[in-house]
Amino acid sequence: MEIILASGNRHKLFELKEILPDHKLLLPEDIGINFDFEEKGNSYLENSMGKAFALYNQVKRPVLADDSGLSVKALGGAPGIYSARYGSSNGVILEAHERNLYLLNKLKGIDDLRAEFICCMTLILEDNRFFTVQESVKGQIVRESTGINGFGYDPIFYLPQYGKTVAELPESEKNIISHRGKAGIKIGKLISISAS
Ligand code: IMP
Repeated sequence: MEIILASGNRHKLFELKEILPDHKLLLPEDIGINFDFEEKGNSYLENSMGKAFALYNQVKRPVLADDSGLSVKALGGAPGIYSARYGSSNGVILEAHERNLYLLNKLKGIDDLRAEFICCMTLILEDNRFFTVQESVKGQIVRESTGINGFGYDPIFYLPQYGKTVAELPESEKNIISHRGKAGIKIGKLISISAS
């Protein structure tokens, strides 16, 4: 099935192509659509549904939205739904490595480094037919960026069961165990049982 991703994030597209190999995933710009959505929701669910419906109403064909982020326990769940713009001010958006440093600074002197990646995905197939899945993966923040794979907060998110940060895992492994992988694999199963 051809599915348009309600995002401009090529990292997400790259990962989702691997997570949903039986489908053809495209960005709005790949089909000549200008898609810009202002996230105003108070949850991953609201933002995911908001993005999915905004794009669906533009294209009227299958769309998928991924709203995701990092929640750090000692920071009361921050950066959470604001993960993409964490530490940014006056319209200046930090680069990913600057955001990671900003977060590490916030955690100076704090012992509890538990954190969770969360992903809420909404798939709209046609009018009145949609599915939403939210998944997460638990880990902890490491005080120094390690690894070069993935994107965003991956170099500072450590998975104790692997003894590695997500950025040290091969992409194929990340895409099975990550928040996005867990949600996307379920979306794939929903597609296959929802053909009619
Ligand atoms: P969104 O586009 O509002 O969903 O923002 C997602 C933001 O959360 C990204 O820009 C990253 O900063 C962060 N994020 C989401 N998923 C991941 C991931 O798999 N690895 C690292 N950072 C992620």
